[in-house]
Amino acid sequence: MPERGEKSPIWGSRFAEGPDPLFFAYGRSVAWDRRLAPEDIRGSLAHVHALAAAGVLAPDVAAELASALQSLGDRLAKGFELPIEPQDEDVHGAIERLLGPIGGYLHAGRSRNDQVALDFHLFCKAAAEELAAAVKELQAAILALCEAQGDKLWWGMTHLQPAQPVLVAHHWLAYFWMFERDRGRFLWAAGQADRSPLGAGALAGAGLPVDPLQTARELGLSAVYDNSMDAVSDRDFALDLGHAAATTALHLSRLGEEIVLFASPAFGRLELPDAFATGSSMMPQKKNADGAELLRGRAGRVLGAHLGLMTTLKGLPLAYVRDLQEDKEAVFGIVDTTRAGVRLAAAMLPRLKLLEARIPRGDLSLATDLADYLVRCGEPFREAHHIVGRAVQAAVAAGGDFTCLDDPTWRSMSAHFTPEALSNLLDPSLSPGRRAVPMGTAPAEVAKQLARAYQALA
Ligand code: ARG
Repeated sequence: MPERGEKSPIWGSRFAEGPDPLFFAYGRSVAWDRRLAPEDIRGSLAHVHALAAAGVLAPDVAAELASALQSLGDRLAKGFELPIEPQDEDVHGAIERLLGPIGGYLHAGRSRNDQVALDFHLFCKAAAEELAAAVKELQAAILALCEAQGDKLWWGMTHLQPAQPVLVAHHWLAYFWMFERDRGRFLWAAGQADRSPLGAGALAGAGLPVDPLQTARELGLSAVYDNSMDAVSDRDFALDLGHAAATTALHLSRLGEEIVLFASPAFGRLELPDAFATGSSMMPQKKNADGAELLRGRAGRVLGAHLGLMTTLKGLPLAYVRDLQEDKEAVFGIVDTTRAGVRLAAAMLPRLKLLEARIPRGDLSLATDLADYLVRCGEPFREAHHIVGRAVQAAVAAGGDFTCLDDPTWRSMSAHFTPEALSNLLDPSLSPGRRAVPMGTAPAEVAKQLARAYQALA
């Protein structure tokens, strides 16, 4: 905190006194925006080059400034912390101070408004690309699980009730495609951040001839904004990243929920590796799926931060307003939480031990197969549904599944239910093969799906 009464070194002169300590602490962002120091230094270097190219800075000043920035950047790259002083308000002021007297030349033709917007574009673009790569690892982990253990059958469910037999690989591949779309959303978000606001100045455009295209190009950004007021005041590129992350977090939470459920003996569909399970401090027998529970639970943080940022941005007037400073903590949290979740899932998934689901012969989940068979024999589907519904009712009344019904009972329900037909229809292992439409769970279709999945990752 500055000494009482001490004025800001970068904007204090028009004030009679320095900020109240409470207000200074309230507005200070350096604790978290120091994370943008590498981006800030890169942006400043490009800005110095533009100032020199325009002849605004003398070559020797530009060279000294560039080398001061460079050596600070090198120190940070080696892992040194940005040294923060109590009077530093944000990362931009701290870096200008650390440059020493030569730093006084740096801010020509620039405002912290376009500066911070640039830093944040660079951060969001890199984060989106990194998250896309992390999601790709998770997708590869899903494929490894499917390859190694995907040929078993288990019940596909609707309403969490047994519905129809599906290949286990088919079940997990559903997540592969969710994450494939997430990856696309991250890449798209990276493209939305791939645009430079530098040169917008405070809001109306820089008053010195710095070429925005030159700085953009130097920073590896493909475009510049068309309007300086838009450039400094919107954070929709951060919302695009937030949306991609929120959807990923949501998918991770579904995945986490299923791992929790399936690891419970009530489902008995998988065994957790010890390395991803926790015990109880009281109950010695316990093996809990805390990792999966956290995948599910932490989605709340990501969704909350995303909604929080949208709420912050709602109703803001043009152009820069200080509310925009709230963008960074939200996005840092979103990025860190999502990245950690994606990595955890990628590490845990291939180590799950999927257990054989013993779908018994004559299981009621074959009811749709029986109805479809009657349709193939010429019955209207609704009538077929009624016939099989009565068979289900009789089986349940007999205390079991379709194997409880004897031949005469079947025959009384439909002449098409011959023992030969039933011997096929009541075998659960033959059920998936009947769903041989593209995207279906037939083994041949799942094999094609796997091939498409590998292709998507190639
Ligand atoms: N720390 C500020 C932020 O993150 C930097 C911009 C300050 N600009 C201003 N006009 N007060 O948004």
